Amino acid sequence: MKVAVLGAAGGIGQALSLLLKTQLPAGSELALYDVAPVVPGVAVDLSHIPTAVKVTGHGKDDLGDALTGCDVVLIPAGVPRKPGMDRSDLFNINAGIVKTLVEGVADHCPAACLGIITNPVNTTVAIAAETLKAKGVYDKNKLFGVTTLDVIRAETFVAELKDLDPAATHVPVIGGHSGTTILPLLSQVEGVSFSDDEVESLTTRIQNAGTEVVEAKAGGGSATLSMGQAAARFCLSLVAAMQGDNVVEYAYVQTDDSDDAAFFAHPVRLGANGVEEILPYGELSDFEQKAKESMLEGLRGDIKLGVDFVNG
Ligand code: NAD
Ligand code: LMR
Repeated sequence: MKVAVLGAAGGIGQALSLLLKTQLPAGSELALYDVAPVVPGVAVDLSHIPTAVKVTGHGKDDLGDALTGCDVVLIPAGVPRKPGMDRSDLFNINAGIVKTLVEGVADHCPAACLGIITNPVNTTVAIAAETLKAKGVYDKNKLFGVTTLDVIRAETFVAELKDLDPAATHVPVIGGHSGTTILPLLSQVEGVSFSDDEVESLTTRIQNAGTEVVEAKAGGGSATLSMGQAAARFCLSLVAAMQGDNVVEYAYVQTDDSDDAAFFAHPVRLGANGVEEILPYGELSDFEQKAKESMLEGLRGDIKLGVDFVNG
């Protein structure tokens, strides 16, 4: 397996690359690309960790070498939020970055699975899809918006509230990755029940968890370490599935479900070629159904912004 991280010198990129260096299967290759001049140094630094994962560093003119032969590409390149900003405020800078990098993917490893981390994810995934379509290489089964951070946060907060083992707590999170488009399905958490007040406050906390980190970092960026862990979990699941394991993760994928939005986070059975099967998210409580209905228009608008960005 060859995995590339584009934006590897950043806060997420470095945490993610460390986890992949220590946890990818023996014999894998990890290619680190960034426009920041420190990236070859990040690769040398990681290469001193004794695992059978080969690490290479690639500077701004070396995207082709980073991508050639890749099975999985993860993109956390771009700017993070500061207090007072919404994820959508990142669109002006990050849309172009994602488009350029995805063009590189189309040119150098069109069959790779692609995980988009760069915000606003609701929109950047649509940009990636349209960019790949324009290059004639789009495969909807190989494009993912990485929403695993919402899942691990929901699992952490539910386990804290109900005094459960976080590692054994599973919380579905569907929809998108911004504000009210993040929809945790607390009604489906096995073995626990929540009061109406708990449902409301937990849902709001999960939806605002990114902002909680942005405010706590006070201008120093957004979640990097928990996101590194979340992206590593997603990538390792994908790699395991590509090697034959039966794995389900939640991810923001193209759904073709006209009742929801063109992209919507679902439980997804992963396989050798990316999405093997998009699983239904099951029955919603009245609270969840109302929350879904009231956020769909916004999510569809976020997606349209991405489509229009590429197609003019
Ligand atoms: P960061 O500023 O620490 O790192 C970003 C890196 O991207 C930098 O090293 C920068 O040099 C690099 N970069 C910029 N333009 C590039 C280009 N054209 N090609 C390659 N590399 C480029 O930021 P961060 O904290 O790592 O966050 C990165 C992105 O991830 C932000 O957009 C943030 O909002 C997003 N994010 C998403 C989630 C999620 O759940 N999907 C969670 C946290 C953060
Ligand atoms: C998060 O959820 O932490 C990320 O999307 C970063 C952010 O801007 O909140």
